[in-house]
Amino acid sequence: MPLIESLHAREILDSRGNPTLEVKVTLSGGVTGIASCPSGASTGTFEARELRDDDASRYRGKGVLHAVANVNGRLAASLHGQRVDNQRELDALLNFLDGTPTKAHLGANATLAVSLACARAAAQYHHIPLYLYLGGSNAHVLPVPMFNVVNGGAHAKGGTDVQEYKIIPIGAPTFSEALRYGSEIYHVLGDVLISRGYGSSIGDEGGYVPGVTSNEEVLTLLMEAIELAGYAAGTDVAIGVDPAANAFRHGEEYLLRLDSQTLSSEELISYWTGWLDRYPIISLEDPLADDDWAGFASMTKSLGDRVQIVGDDLFVTNPAFIRRGIEEKCCNCALIKPNQIGTMTETLDAAAIALHAGYACMVSHRSGETLDTGIADLAVALNCGQIKAGSPIRGERVAKYNRLLEIEHELGETAKYAGSSAFRPTTEIDAR
Ligand code: PGA
Ligand code: ZN
Repeated sequence: MPLIESLHAREILDSRGNPTLEVKVTLSGGVTGIASCPSGASTGTFEARELRDDDASRYRGKGVLHAVANVNGRLAASLHGQRVDNQRELDALLNFLDGTPTKAHLGANATLAVSLACARAAAQYHHIPLYLYLGGSNAHVLPVPMFNVVNGGAHAKGGTDVQEYKIIPIGAPTFSEALRYGSEIYHVLGDVLISRGYGSSIGDEGGYVPGVTSNEEVLTLLMEAIELAGYAAGTDVAIGVDPAANAFRHGEEYLLRLDSQTLSSEELISYWTGWLDRYPIISLEDPLADDDWAGFASMTKSLGDRVQIVGDDLFVTNPAFIRRGIEEKCCNCALIKPNQIGTMTETLDAAAIALHAGYACMVSHRSGETLDTGIADLAVALNCGQIKAGSPIRGERVAKYNRLLEIEHELGETAKYAGSSAFRPTTEIDAR
C-alpha cells in the first residue's frame, strides 16, 4: 500500500514574483509527488482563503511562511502513514484539520498544494499519468485552449476595463493545431498593435496591453489579427471575453472608465448584447459582479442559448455556490480553479455537479502562476473540453499548453480534440 512518509513545503515565487508554496510528498517506498499553488489578483469575494503572513518586513506582507509551517508541522504529522491513493479520504482529513468553511486556518494555498502533490505521488506510484489517475480510463478529450491575448483590468495597470480578450481556435482539427493557430495570431496581433503605435507592453497573463480608446476597439483588433493570420473569424477562431465585472462595480452601478459610461446591471447586459451582435463571441465570463445573482439569472434567460456565460467569481469553484447557480438558473458554464476551493476532491465535485446539471466547465489557471501543470491534466481528466491558461507565451503559461501537447502525443489515436462541440450554450439547466 502506498503510504505517506513525509510532507515538506517550501516558499517559492510565482510568476508575479510573489511567494507561494511548493509541497513535496514522499511515500514510504521513496516515490514522490511535487505540486505548487497559483494565486489570483481579481479574486472572487467568497474564494477559499489564501494564507499570507501579513508581516510587512517580508515580501510586503505576502510571505507564506505560516502556510509552509502548517504543512511541515500539523499536516506532516497528521498525514504520516495515511494511504496516499484515497484522494477523497485525504482531502476530508485536510478539511477536518482545517475546521473552517474557507480553509482560513491552514490556508487553501497550503491544502491545495498538499492535495495535488498527493495525487501526483499516487499517480506516480501506480505508474499512470495524472489525468488518468484523476479522471479514470476514459479521460481522452483534449480541451480547446482559450488564449488571453489582450490583458486589462487587475492584470494590466492602465489597460482596458475588461480583463481578458481571448481567441478560441474552435475550428482546429487537433489540440496541437489549435496551439499553432493561437501562437500565429498572437504574433500577428503584436505586429498590428505596433503598426498602430500601441506599444508592446504585456500583462500578467502574457497578453498585450494596447493603449486603445475604448473597450470595444480591442475586438476590432482581434478580428483583424485573426483574418490577417489567415483564419476565418467565427468558424476557425472565435472570441471569448472575461470582463471580471467585480473590478468596475461601483455601488449599484458599473463604471466603464475607458468608455466614460456608468451603467446599471440591465444596461450592462445590453452593452454585452451589442458585442454579441457585432463579434463572434462564444464565451462571456463574469459579465456582472459576483453579488448580482438576479442579473446573472436575467442574462442567462435572455442570452444563455446564444453564448456561454461563465461563472468564475460568482461560483468560486464551490459546490454550494454552483448548486445555488443551478437552482436560480445562473450561467451555463462553471469556471474550475482548484485553488479557489483548496482540494482536488472538492474541485472534482464542483465540476461533476456542474456537468451533471448540463453546464459546461472550463478549467483555468490564475494570473499568478507557477510551472505546475496540474490544470492541464485536470482538463483532460474531466473530458470537459475547455481550458484557459493565458497567452501562448511565458514559461508558466506555455508549461500548461506544452503538457497538453505531451498528453495528446501520449494518447495518440485515442486523443479527441473537443473543438466547437465543447461550446453548447443552453438555458436548459437541470435543477434535479
Ligand atoms: P485571477 O483572474 O487569477 O487574477 O483571479 C483570472 C480570472 O478572473 O479568470
Ligand atoms: Zn474570470
